[in-house]
Amino acid sequence: MRVVICPDLCAVATAAADIVTELVGRKPQGTLGLATGSSPLGLYAELAERVAAGLDMSGFSGFALDEYVGLAPDDPRSYAHVIRTQVTEPLRLKPENVHVPTGIGDDLDAECLAYEDAIRAAGGIDIQILGIGRNGHLGFNEPTSSFASRTRVASLAKWTRQDNARYFSSPEDVPRECVTQGLGTIMAARMTLLIATGVAKAGAVARAVEGPVSALCPASILQHHENAVVVIDEEAAGELALVDYYRDTQRRSVRDTVAG
Ligand code: PGA
Repeated sequence: MRVVICPDLCAVATAAADIVTELVGRKPQGTLGLATGSSPLGLYAELAERVAAGLDMSGFSGFALDEYVGLAPDDPRSYAHVIRTQVTEPLRLKPENVHVPTGIGDDLDAECLAYEDAIRAAGGIDIQILGIGRNGHLGFNEPTSSFASRTRVASLAKWTRQDNARYFSSPEDVPRECVTQGLGTIMAARMTLLIATGVAKAGAVARAVEGPVSALCPASILQHHENAVVVIDEEAAGELALVDYYRDTQRRSVRDTVAG
């Protein structure tokens, strides 16, 4: 796992955008896994600025991580709406190439299978962008989710519903179920890019990066990914034990890049 510690939010957004921009240069028809929540917003804003300045992402496809059960895509609280306004439009992606699991319908299990098929048909995900929950969840894979899980209907943990209540008029309005890419789906991406900022995430980041690999911290499965990058600010790095090692590795990789 490569841990990149940045001085502030702006540097986190820049470091993450540099990774995506490198993919755009190498593979103009790349595919991103798209997280929602507050963590990737700086990355999306930075990419939008680069697109406005000439970066061409029009060949890219995207697959959102999750959606609430019961919210229609035109509901402003749905992740379909968030992805459209924060990603598809500002990054000038073609709407038909951007997919969000559907949270409404009579047969969500069939929709989940179709979502997995669509990811496979697109050639898999090049970079899976991720946030992390305070409880260590990835997407909406709450603690005890199977490491082999695929896109499915799942229940939201109490903590997650509390954390996400800020997007709803009352905590009771937060749906109890969601559709989420599974941990197996996430692990199939060629690269994972986890973004975390702020002191509230420090415990989860430490457990994901340095803790035992455990279903109690779903993000710890990333320790088994051969190309997992974690981009965090100083506050989110606050509980890491080997912080000097990560900084040293980071300095060397910058030096190697500059040396060409
Ligand atoms: P956040 O959520 O980016 O809004 O903090 C992340 C998550 O819960 O996965």
